[in-house]
Amino acid sequence: MSSLLTDKRILLGISGGIAAYKTADWTRNLRREGAEVRVMMSRAAERFITPLTMAALSGHKVHSDIFAADDAERIPHISLGRECDLVLLAPATANTIARLAHGLADGLLTAVVLAAKAKVLICPAMNSTMYQHPATRANLERLVQFGYTVIPPECGEMACGDQGPGRLVEWETVRQEIITALTPQDLQGKKVLVTAGPTWEALDPVRLLTSRASGKMGYALATAAKRRGAEVTLVSGPGNIANPTGVEVIPVISAGQMHEAVLSRAERMDVIIKAAAVSDYRPAHYDPHKIKKDASDAALPLAANPDILRELGERKKGARCFPLLVGFAAESYNHLEEGQRKLRAKNLDLIAINDISADDAGFAVDNNRVTLVDRNGAVEELPLLSKEEVAHRILNAILRLN
Ligand code: CTP
Repeated sequence: MSSLLTDKRILLGISGGIAAYKTADWTRNLRREGAEVRVMMSRAAERFITPLTMAALSGHKVHSDIFAADDAERIPHISLGRECDLVLLAPATANTIARLAHGLADGLLTAVVLAAKAKVLICPAMNSTMYQHPATRANLERLVQFGYTVIPPECGEMACGDQGPGRLVEWETVRQEIITALTPQDLQGKKVLVTAGPTWEALDPVRLLTSRASGKMGYALATAAKRRGAEVTLVSGPGNIANPTGVEVIPVISAGQMHEAVLSRAERMDVIIKAAAVSDYRPAHYDPHKIKKDASDAALPLAANPDILRELGERKKGARCFPLLVGFAAESYNHLEEGQRKLRAKNLDLIAINDISADDAGFAVDNNRVTLVDRNGAVEELPLLSKEEVAHRILNAILRLN
């Protein structure tokens, strides 16, 4: 399955620290997601992990010699940094960081970084006293001034037994940083509001009406829009997904609260994406006491909730300038026709339709298979993709409509 890293060319530079062994796994993870990995190692790194291991895992010869002349057409310290989309230095030792901060080109790694035109991500890893030394702090600040991204190490127990900051960052954090570095900032200056999750409609202090939605699709959209440079507000129903970094999160419980949160912000937005599975009905009466089984008859009277998206679409009809509206439609049959009907009925610019009859996509899983239909009638059927990638495809479609 294609991922955001598919076909990206990553140049991994390993310097001589004990955490070097972790980059073997990183290489496998990158390749599993379809990225191409080239490896260069300092001489010191070769004492911690062998070039043979890294060659086997990357599928390519490992570079370590700045003076290698096996191909007269290519000068390794120039070509390596030019033929990749991103340079990832991990672990970056105190020594390598100091050399980079002073512009030295005394080995392949430092020379490549100096000559690279691609983005450079640096993952320091060292003993915590070395990391906290003013010399290392100053060197890292210089690297940030040079435009490199420094991904701080984590706190914890070190190989030497010390506790503190200095442990090589975890893979998932690096993965997110790589994706951010490779993502174009094409939503810069745009204000995007996303709704996510289910709503809870309380019947009494214990029971509620809700849906199986997890919020994953909406959170993926908020994360993707933020990564592409947008200012993002996420109006989220109840759930247990961590807040995306840098996104303003407005927690709500019921459809009524979501209605208020969205409508009061709508006019300030450039795009509104309604990924939430809003409950169409709520119990007509809320009982402040837990309802006893013998105290009520079995019927549950319901009252209709406001249709938030339809109201936004109505408002848009009368306004000269109003946010671009994107809806979702979760359908179990006639999904294309139903989606097209909702697009027109709610006056939307784009709708993402998912066929929830498939069990590998849709509710509460990490993947989704959606069909996009826009206001001009264009239909784009996407294959099964991660929700992360579906989010980017939806944002691409939005940009095409703008
Ligand atoms: N929606 C909304 N407010 C509601 C119900 C739905 O804003 N009260 C939005 C959803 O967030 C989604 C779109 O409308 O983007 C379509 O939701 P869906 O539940 O598929 O459709 P409904 O309009 O509720 O129609 P039905 O339940 O009859 O399929």
